[in-house]
Amino acid sequence: MSPLLELNSIHTFIGQFHILEGISLSVPVNSITALLGRNGAGKTTTLKSIMGLTPPRTGNVKFDGVEVRGRRAFDIAAMGIGYVPEHRAIFRDLTVLENLKIAERKKNDFAKREEMIFKLFPDLKRLMKLHGGQLSGGQQQMLAIARALVPENRLLLIDEPSEGLAPVIIEQLMDAIRFLTSHVTVLLVEQNFRVASQLADYYYLIDDGRSVQNGAMQDLVNDRATIQKYLGAK
Ligand SMILES: Nc1ncnc2c1ncn2[C@@H]1O[C@H](COP(=O)(O)OP(=O)(O)OP(=O)(O)O)[C@@H](O)[C@H]1O
Ligand SMILES: [Mg+2]
Repeated sequence: MSPLLELNSIHTFIGQFHILEGISLSVPVNSITALLGRNGAGKTTTLKSIMGLTPPRTGNVKFDGVEVRGRRAFDIAAMGIGYVPEHRAIFRDLTVLENLKIAERKKNDFAKREEMIFKLFPDLKRLMKLHGGQLSGGQQQMLAIARALVPENRLLLIDEPSEGLAPVIIEQLMDAIRFLTSHVTVLLVEQNFRVASQLADYYYLIDDGRSVQNGAMQDLVNDRATIQKYLGAK
């Protein structure tokens, strides 16, 4: 089966800086694929490059077989890619319900997926009338993911969901992300290797803007030397 997302040697510049120097990866349908690498490796820039927020200068970005490099971010999102950025970026002054409704791409998007979203994140239903700014970090993260599920997305790009969260909240979030794959495909950036290794089927390791290694997550888990070298984790 052809992959849902495929990057072929993308090169991305930010100003004069050559940040990505050949990133390639391939994300199979209904999998969780982890994008790993140390701080500053280029993980966030890779996600932004896919979305057209930092458009790659060369290379290919294919979504469901269609070249999207060069399209505007808005058009790329509209093809069915949801982006859950680092630090969540929810609207603090809007209620939970308003945060969800504002994510609609088509009329009734929220109504169509409301049941699935609240099944995934039952807490959000209870918190519907609170403002984004009143939520805990974990609740904000759940809202950020829920928001990406409102429009009809086939692929979610999720950047560092566990960052700054307590272990018990991380467990809840992991359960939700696991359940997600019956609806969408996930490309996950995650610094917490334990979280990444328990969630992901496949991994891509990048370093200094370049693809280094990839394979089945199960194989990486047993490769302590690589983990130590590139991720500094044990
Ligand atoms: N706006 C910018 N201007 C200049 N350099 C930038 C800019 N944004 C990112 N970079 C650089 O690009 C490189 C990759 O950054 P990126 O944020 O993609 O890394 P990352 O792997 O997501 O790191 P982290 O784990 O810290 O989130 C880093 O060296 C960073 O300093
Ligand atoms: Mg980052």
